[in-house]
Amino acid sequence: MTDKKQSESSKQSRRDFISKAGLVAGTTAGAGAILFGSADALAAAPTPSQTEGPFFPIRDQADKDADLTRLVGSDKVAKGEVVMVKGIVLDASDKPVVGAEIDVWQACESGRYNHPQDPNTAAPLDENFQYWAKLQTDAEGRFAFKTIKPGAYPATSTWDRPTHIHYRIKAWGVPTLTTQMYFKDDALNDIDQILIATRRRYGDEATDSLIVDFKTDEGAEGESKKIPTGTFTIRLSGTPRIQD
Ligand SMILES: [Fe+2]
Repeated sequence: MTDKKQSESSKQSRRDFISKAGLVAGTTAGAGAILFGSADALAAAPTPSQTEGPFFPIRDQADKDADLTRLVGSDKVAKGEVVMVKGIVLDASDKPVVGAEIDVWQACESGRYNHPQDPNTAAPLDENFQYWAKLQTDAEGRFAFKTIKPGAYPATSTWDRPTHIHYRIKAWGVPTLTTQMYFKDDALNDIDQILIATRRRYGDEATDSLIVDFKTDEGAEGESKKIPTGTFTIRLSGTPRIQD
């Protein structure tokens, strides 16, 4: 064999090995499995948990559907910029979680919660805003809802919370996750004490997964063509057990 052929043969063997080992470009997850010898190493870190806050809804409401921008039976629309949130709930092995129950709650455009203990009474309630939704993931682990971009509000006299939406996700057989989702390009994100503490505890990659980019998509079907839409991926810390 000539030197050139020997070299080509050697390269091919190496390519075969790399391919079988899952170490080709773009498959760092495969590399992780080799290095750590465990399929668990494939999945990204779980979504960080964050405080539930004091304003989880305590007043029941008839309308808890996936359109928070209006109340059922009314043709009036909530104040504020309408946005769409599309999401998926995954387990610790990156498998979709079917039938997860999700509570979503948030402030209205003025930064006020529909909660009797909200001290931000200078901000008016919006009688046309739904404030709270109860959702369930579909057969592919997906969920979606339409809402308005909530207003920032003062947490203390020196600290304004950035725009955020609260989530509580319950799925059979895994720990309940309570967290918050943020909007990219909000200057308050960088100085928010809760996000700073999360970054310190969970690291940048996991914390950045809470911050979602909203934009319109000309190529999308339905309302995402016109309404800024963001995708929130939620990873639970566990794998739901399948009942026999
Ligand atoms: Fe909040």
